Amino acid sequence: MRRSLTSAITISSIGLICKSFLNLGFVPSIRIEGLHHLLDALNDTKRRNAGAGVITVSNHISVLDEPLTWGILPSSHYFSRDTKSMRWALGASDIMFTNPVLSEFFRAGQVIETFRGRGIYQPAVNDAISLLNSGEWIHLFPESKVFQESSKSTTGLGPFKWGIGRMLMEARHPPTIIPIYLTGFDELMPEPRPSPKFVPRIWNSPNLTITFGPHSPQFTETIRKAMLGLREPRHPSVGLGSPVKGGVDGERAQDEVEVEREREESDRLRSLITDEIRKAVIQLGKRALREDS
Ligand SMILES: *[C@@H]1O[C@H](CO)[C@@H](O)[C@H](O)[C@H]1NC(C)=O
Ligand SMILES: *[C@@H]1O[C@H](CO)[C@@H](O)[C@H](O)[C@H]1NC(C)=O
Repeated sequence: MRRSLTSAITISSIGLICKSFLNLGFVPSIRIEGLHHLLDALNDTKRRNAGAGVITVSNHISVLDEPLTWGILPSSHYFSRDTKSMRWALGASDIMFTNPVLSEFFRAGQVIETFRGRGIYQPAVNDAISLLNSGEWIHLFPESKVFQESSKSTTGLGPFKWGIGRMLMEARHPPTIIPIYLTGFDELMPEPRPSPKFVPRIWNSPNLTITFGPHSPQFTETIRKAMLGLREPRHPSVGLGSPVKGGVDGERAQDEVEVEREREESDRLRSLITDEIRKAVIQLGKRALREDS
């Protein structure tokens, strides 16, 4: 998609601000590992033009994780007029879309208004799926709120919402999934913090790390297996053509049972897929935090 002029200006200025912040010595150190995993995924134009999206998934340790993390991208990503060069993020309505000016700003910054508590069948998730189907890049914080403890230990990672499970099951082509683990941003923006609320705490000497992991073929395999499971009826005897007792009412009851069964099955698969992604983030986090050494 071609980025509008407003969006192009927003993305390039925020990108440059983030890059400057990271490069001008406001933080004592920043360690970046595995960035090529993301850049290679983004640069796979053949796959993306064929309609396979990219999903990045990370732990969420401060209100600055976004957009500061993207300050490490090559600046060509900020100046491209193609929306594919920058992530689409899901942003909380009650925080980011509280007035028309902010709403316009975040929309221009490729943030999709999301209502927390409205579940996985809301327009934001539908939009994310359509974007993935056109090869766009979606970034998710599946914990959907800040869990700062995960900056120190992977045991601090919160539970993941199932929206990502739905996206992966419903995207037309299996997206490339790049896990990310962040540490140190919590020192920059501790929760809770006194006034001035929106000033980054550079005096805390935050040392940031941003670690990217590879896409694992296992994700695609799990999704494929899960989808196969969904299509196989669990009780073949009540499939089409089998006699149903009780006439029309019996049939209707049977249909309802079937719908209910499918819903439970989809829930189970979404949770399974989401869990798989969470495990990958934990595994990456252990490496980032040197927990396994
Ligand atoms: C992207 O891939 C092309 C070839 O497909 C290559 O020439 C180019 O250097 C790559 N760009 C980046 C930023 O990796
Ligand atoms: C960051 O690293 C510097 C230099 O090694 C150190 O002095 C500082 O205490 C570290 N910051 C935190 C929050 O640990």
